[in-house]
Amino acid sequence: MPGIFSRTPKPEDVGVTFDPQGVIPVHVGIIMDGNGRWARARGMPRVAGHRAGTKNIRRVLREAAEIGIQVLTVYAFSTENWARPKEEVEHLMRLISQSIQEELDDLDANRVRILHSGRFEGVNPSLQREIREAIERTQHNDKITLNVAFNYGGRAEIVDAIRAIIREGLPPEAVTEETVQQHLYHPELPDPDLIIRTGGEFRLSNFLLWQAAYAEFYSTPVYWPDFDEAELRKAIAVFQHRDRRFGKIKDTER
Ligand code: IPE
Ligand code: IPE
Ligand code: MG
Repeated sequence: MPGIFSRTPKPEDVGVTFDPQGVIPVHVGIIMDGNGRWARARGMPRVAGHRAGTKNIRRVLREAAEIGIQVLTVYAFSTENWARPKEEVEHLMRLISQSIQEELDDLDANRVRILHSGRFEGVNPSLQREIREAIERTQHNDKITLNVAFNYGGRAEIVDAIRAIIREGLPPEAVTEETVQQHLYHPELPDPDLIIRTGGEFRLSNFLLWQAAYAEFYSTPVYWPDFDEAELRKAIAVFQHRDRRFGKIKDTER
């Protein structure tokens, strides 16, 4: 008999297959991590990884829509990412602006609705304008919602909600979970059912802290630029095999 410490954990995706007729997550969040390491592994500068990573959103978004996912929230830039070297931050800002310019026509034609979660504070006014225009132009699209978490922090979002609640002068006893929910950046969006993190880490890094309460978490070592259609299906397949209990017990165990 093998000792208790000699057990090698089996990767969760072994033997699971995606079932198009099975439960499809309504809202999927993706922590798009590993761009820098993807580039380094190829002897390229980190920014080449960001370029490849930005391009990859398109293919994953298309597949998500195909599968029937209704909302895809992608973590593009965190409130902590400002602490990176100035050149890298500037490059990331340029990439966001460039991809809006290059992709907006196509996204609109494919009925993608664009949303933004995050703060505008600190963001270049011309980029703010581009983001606002993209949101406005695509607001009636109904194929899939692409929510871009940009200059986003889960704690900042909760702080912003608290500020708004205090500003409205609500008495403390009147503040409920629903009140907080109603003051988030996008109260109308359902909580994410599944949060995918590429690049191998097992942490949220300040992503959707409030909304992630009952999300299923999936981590893959695949770097974001390599995360393709098959990888997305694999993640959904694992999700389909999870047992979501929401604090209850199964009916069969009553
Ligand atoms: C994710 O890739 C993109 C952003 C955080 C903007 P990273 O740049 O974090 O890549 P790694 O984690 O260093 O490989
Ligand atoms: C999370 O990745 C943020 C984004 C993907 C935008 P990071 O690379 O910033 O996270 P840490 O630093 O590894 O926690
Ligand atoms: Mg990283």
